[in-house]
Amino acid sequence: MNHQKLIIEGGRRLQGEIAVQGAKNSLLPLLAATVLCDGVATLHNCPRITDADAAFRILDCLGCKCCRECSVVTVDAAKMANNQVPEALMQEMRSSIVFLGAILGRCGSCRWSTPGGCELGPRPIDYHVESLKQMGVEVVQEAGYMNFTAPKGIRGAKIALPFPSVGATENVMLAATTAEGVTEIHNAAREPEITDLAEFLNKCGARIAGAGGSTVVVEGVPKLSGAEHTVISDRIVTATYMCCAAITRGELLLSRTKQDDLSPILPLFRKMGCSVYTYDKDKIYINARKALRAPGKIVTHVHPGFPTDAQAPLMALTTVLPGTTIFEENIFESRYKHAAELGRLGAKINVRERIAVVEGVPRLSGAKVSSTDLRGGAALVTAGLACEGITTVGEIQHIDRGYEAIEDALRSVGAKIIRK
Ligand code: EPZ
Repeated sequence: MNHQKLIIEGGRRLQGEIAVQGAKNSLLPLLAATVLCDGVATLHNCPRITDADAAFRILDCLGCKCCRECSVVTVDAAKMANNQVPEALMQEMRSSIVFLGAILGRCGSCRWSTPGGCELGPRPIDYHVESLKQMGVEVVQEAGYMNFTAPKGIRGAKIALPFPSVGATENVMLAATTAEGVTEIHNAAREPEITDLAEFLNKCGARIAGAGGSTVVVEGVPKLSGAEHTVISDRIVTATYMCCAAITRGELLLSRTKQDDLSPILPLFRKMGCSVYTYDKDKIYINARKALRAPGKIVTHVHPGFPTDAQAPLMALTTVLPGTTIFEENIFESRYKHAAELGRLGAKINVRERIAVVEGVPRLSGAKVSSTDLRGGAALVTAGLACEGITTVGEIQHIDRGYEAIEDALRSVGAKIIRK
């Protein structure tokens, strides 16, 4: 299948306004949560991204009625007739695992293919499985599959996650929402997307407290109604466009942002020499016309630390900042695949296990490069904006998973970029 590519003529300063899309990593668990609703759920601010399309296909296979009108999605799970996600869809999108907790909460059983790896390294689900087992779920492994059943129903439990896993926290919340009794999740993930999921579930009648903190308490309720909810703004897309502004020494106004979610990131741009202002409720203005410098050390952490998803776009920016930047990637095992591709553009990056050392170079030169994963692809586009000459970014299906029409957004603020 011939995959599309983005062709970028670098060297143009970005200037203008971009309205930031809704968050992919909030929309996916929200769509899974609609499986628990016995009424219509309406979600606003849904981005047009292929991961959302994959989630819609999963809901369709489960017998839920999904409709999209522009950025509004309605899901009616009242007539849900099936508890089986097709294997092809499980493989297509690793994060489909978040449907497991919701399907178990609704149907009490589900079969899931044993996850392999993905472009970020192994994507185990042991925290998910061990937590569900503590809630009365039985798991029988057979060739390549795991059969989940809850013969005595799902019951609340005291869960201590070995690591504040985003997906495991979401899966336990979803399974616990209609379980018998109270579930406590200790060492829960604190990402903003967890809080967004809890807010939606509570609008549907759930009883969830503490989301956004390290201990989340879920009191099981018999059933959930539908509700109306607006998906939060995508903090990683916001950070990506800030990197695009900075690498072109331009200035951007980003609207429809969720400013608080950028608290681990805004100080970094100021440290590099950018002027960054937040105003109204949802606007972030960045001006990078002054000379910028390398930020020093970037260490990825769980929220509220620096987010791993912003590591690749930020690395692209640091390749042309004078000085040395040291990245330490603590969340995923191999999340530096974009470094070699950035090297093809002239970047000087040395990777050893979880450490990547970037020596800033005066300029990058356009070349043919290939997206390795979602955020790695976004990093290549970011770098292409600053390259001398033409950069062709291939395999952009990775980018389309999480960025809504990235070329339209960038062209609207002065980039010379076309999709082919
Ligand atoms: C979510 O993935 C996000 N995806 C990721 O965003 C994000 O990078 C990640 O959280 C961390 O913030 C969605 O929300 C759809 P984890 P998730 O469980 O839930 C290990 C993007 O670019 N682990 O917090 O899969 C795991 O291997 C994507 O938008 C286990 O060992 O992340 C990883 O090393 C990429 N066992 C670490 O924990 C488990 O059972 C963090 O994973 C689960 C996870």
